[in-house]
Amino acid sequence: MQTEGATRPSDVERTGVLVGRVISHPQKEDTGVTTGTRVINLWIMTGLFLGAAGCATSVHTESAAPVQSLYHRLGGKPAITAVVDQFVANVAQDSRINGRFATTDIPGLKRHLVDQVCMAAGGPCAYTGRDMKTTHAGMKITTADFNSLVEDLVSALDQFKVPAREKQELLALLGPMKQDIVELP
Ligand code: HEM
Repeated sequence: MQTEGATRPSDVERTGVLVGRVISHPQKEDTGVTTGTRVINLWIMTGLFLGAAGCATSVHTESAAPVQSLYHRLGGKPAITAVVDQFVANVAQDSRINGRFATTDIPGLKRHLVDQVCMAAGGPCAYTGRDMKTTHAGMKITTADFNSLVEDLVSALDQFKVPAREKQELLALLGPMKQDIVELP
């Protein structure tokens, strides 16, 4: 049976006091614990405390939820497919540009658009259509045509209540394609 206050080896190891003894090379006092040891132990315990606080801080930082891919936040392929369907329906109703798609294979165009958006948003899709320059070459697409199409896309995103942040991120992914699509001012 142990007397109260007695220190067992496991306690010593747990508190780090043993480490203090090993590195202190102190003169023995009658308590069995030296002044030098106490000072060093204090530093070690302070270090352990600060270290623990540091860990707590970094755990707190790491626990902040990582931002999910745009693909995920949009709602995955089903949501992207629904938005593209609505987008193409909006274009079909848009007399400013619908004439351009008179001979287009619409189901094929939709499939390509879904894969293109899905892939650009970080989703598990592969776009297998032609590149934007080749696709639109010779169509003499104007900036006004381009803006009309973007308006139709924004309407579709609004119809599905896609939040502002995701809407902006998607438009920012498509924006740079303008230089390969628009041929006339
Ligand atoms: C960011 C804007 C745009 C994107 C991301 C885009 C994307 C695409 C894609 C993925 C295709 C299918 C490519 C393939 O079949 O290999 C396509 C085809 C087509 N695009 Fe665009 N496009 C954009 C702007 C426009 C604009 C402004 C117009 C005209 C108003 C337009 C007219 C067409 C037409 C007519 C086709 C069908 C071509 C064909 O039937 O061979 N596009 N587009």
